[in-house]
Amino acid sequence: MAYKSTLKYSDITPKADYMNRRQLMGGAAGLMAGMALGPALGASKYSTDEKPNAFEDITAYNNFYEFGTGKEDPARNAHRLTIDPWSVKIDGMVDKPGSYGLEDILAKVSQEERIYRFRCVEAWSMVVPWYGFELNQLLALAGVQSGAKYVGFETLVREEEMPGIRTVNVDWPYREGLRLDEAMHPLTLMATGIYDQPMPKQNGAPLRLVVPWKYGFKSIKSIVRVTLTDKQPQTSWNMLQPREYGFYSNVNPEVSHPRWSQATERKIGGGLLARRQKTLMFNGYEDEVASLYAGMDLAKNF
Ligand code: MTE
Repeated sequence: MAYKSTLKYSDITPKADYMNRRQLMGGAAGLMAGMALGPALGASKYSTDEKPNAFEDITAYNNFYEFGTGKEDPARNAHRLTIDPWSVKIDGMVDKPGSYGLEDILAKVSQEERIYRFRCVEAWSMVVPWYGFELNQLLALAGVQSGAKYVGFETLVREEEMPGIRTVNVDWPYREGLRLDEAMHPLTLMATGIYDQPMPKQNGAPLRLVVPWKYGFKSIKSIVRVTLTDKQPQTSWNMLQPREYGFYSNVNPEVSHPRWSQATERKIGGGLLARRQKTLMFNGYEDEVASLYAGMDLAKNF
């Protein structure tokens, strides 16, 4: 019987020597990745003009519990994942439910690069040049019915390729959800790559969500199912620790996690002595998304 480790999102702390090694390697890799990208940088009006993290930072320090709970586990184990062919089942309250092949999806949507701030609930952050298309384009392919209010997402479960399925104590599949207006928002991305590379497996190949104004755990990886419903879907971290992780999970410096403040963050790759920076409301996307939550008590709806 496999040993099931207890999840400790809260207890995970970065390892100092690992960080140092990554900083040494990060410079050159980042430079190369940036050069390869050329003039496409900053192309989207939704992009931040902050300096992106190096490709090495983004792909060596990950959360992807299907491959283990350590930050280095996804980079070590995710190469076992096979991603071709890939299809996404779209079901629930849609006009055209069914299995959508990734190739077919990509032929019908328009992809672009967007540089987004990405902030994890563990109080580290990165700036990532994602490549992908708006989730609303995928939903349009399936035709959302008028009664739908939420979108649920599920990650692949494939025990032979994902060692964490047997060893990590999560009720698989990894699940996430958004309210329909959040899902339709142009900032909400289905990402298929980072810099000019196809999505690395440790980052959720071939298709993962990115919701830049929410804590990183909402950005579910390696998606195989999208379900439109009229009920709020279950989400993995809320199922595990409902008191600590709510459905909305909007980045909010004023609402503390029960065991730590969310007021500041440490940018990965900034060096160990770099000053922590103040976390911004909605991760800096307040102008774009605050209206979605008008009249809501964000301390209750955390
Ligand atoms: N998606 C799945 N399927 N499994 C996971 O464990 N971890 C989440 C999110 N998506 C996770 C997931 C968490 S906690 C974070 S912070 C981000 O992925 C990390 O994304 P990154 O590794 O690309 O930085």
